[in-house]
Amino acid sequence: MSVVAGEAQILNICIDPEMQGQGLGRRLLRHLIAEAGRQSADTIFLEVRISNQAAFSLYESSGFNEIGQRRGYYPAKDGREDALVLALAL
Ligand SMILES: CC(C)(COP(=O)(O)OP(=O)(O)OC[C@H]1O[C@@H](n2cnc3c(N)ncnc32)[C@H](O)[C@@H]1OP(=O)(O)O)[C@@H](O)C(=O)NCCC(=O)NCCS
Repeated sequence: MSVVAGEAQILNICIDPEMQGQGLGRRLLRHLIAEAGRQSADTIFLEVRISNQAAFSLYESSGFNEIGQRRGYYPAKDGREDALVLALAL
């Protein structure tokens, strides 16, 4: 995560596949949200692949809202994949 001029950007969240589904992703996200607040950010932004249901569900249930899309943002098997842009107001 980077925090610049009151805006935090979560760049990557990753849990070891063998450790997924045990609440660690939610704990890590909670930690990042608290850290962004400590660094005086007022908004957190992130991008997620449209197909990444697990991550989207984590973010949505943590209060993030979809504020836009970026067409062809990610490389994908058959070309490119769109990103959803999500934001959380702190
Ligand atoms: C997304 C990721 C970080 C979640 O971490 P995790 O430790 O598995 O998630 P948790 O066990 O904390 O679960 C938190 C929430 O994520 C969602 N979730 C997790 N696994 C899911 C699955 N297989 N299907 C649907 N939703 C899922 C649920 O909303 C879950 O909440 P719930 O347990 O109350 O239902 C993890 O799957 C991961 O590292 N994925 C690969 C990398 C990645 O895609 N990172 C995000 C890039 S934007």
